Amino acid sequence: MHIGIIMDGNGRWASEKGLPRSFGHRRGAKTVSEIIKACPDLGISTLTLYAFSTENWKRAAHEVESLMRLFRGYLQAKFLQIIENNIKVTFLGDTSPLPRDILNQMKNLEIKSRSNDGFFLNIAINYGGRDEIIRATKKIVKNVIDKKLNMREIDSHSFSNYLDTAGQKDPDLIIRTAGERRLSNFLLWQISYSELYFSDEMWPEFSKQSLKNAIECYKTRERKFGNLKKIAN
Ligand code: FPP
Repeated sequence: MHIGIIMDGNGRWASEKGLPRSFGHRRGAKTVSEIIKACPDLGISTLTLYAFSTENWKRAAHEVESLMRLFRGYLQAKFLQIIENNIKVTFLGDTSPLPRDILNQMKNLEIKSRSNDGFFLNIAINYGGRDEIIRATKKIVKNVIDKKLNMREIDSHSFSNYLDTAGQKDPDLIIRTAGERRLSNFLLWQISYSELYFSDEMWPEFSKQSLKNAIECYKTRERKFGNLKKIAN
């Protein structure tokens, strides 16, 4: 099962307690670790986390800096654990505007974890669904111009292979926390048939039990993929 999560509500969680937003992001990073740990037990093989969107650069400079510091620290602290736990990490998004040292850490982690197959973790950083589709389209156009690809070969299957999630199955379930009911440019192509689940909990308070509740709710859904009859989950 593949689950995608829009981790929302770090800022509100902290502000409600009179704490700086950056504190909420730090607590959010703890939740990230707890949720990754909980996944295998719950039958989840792939987890995609929306960590930073292409729109998040518009936030106050100090908040963007604190998020970058958090990513840097998280990657350093968890690097070995990720490799040792047989987790394969893939970063989704346009990584080019990220600070050079973080970019190097990300590349290194992708390379070192590339042959792991126990659990698949996608982290979306500087990710936007529209941006991903445009980047894929540009690669396709270039291949057509260079005569490496024939127009007739372009279909939804081959198109998927130009996305950052190339070769992966689409998410079965998308979870968004903090009461918002929007998709905010997350995996626009891949979620065509995903089930959606919205939780009122803020991301720092989201727990293994919250994830179990989301999965229980998912099990009650009838997935038809455009057919008349239900297709087994
Ligand atoms: C949304 O909450 C959250 C983010 C923009 C950042 C998500 C980042 C983390 C959970 C930190 C660590 C992540 C990794 C992968 C190590 P918000 O700030 O929009 O909250 P608000 O809507 O209450 O303001």
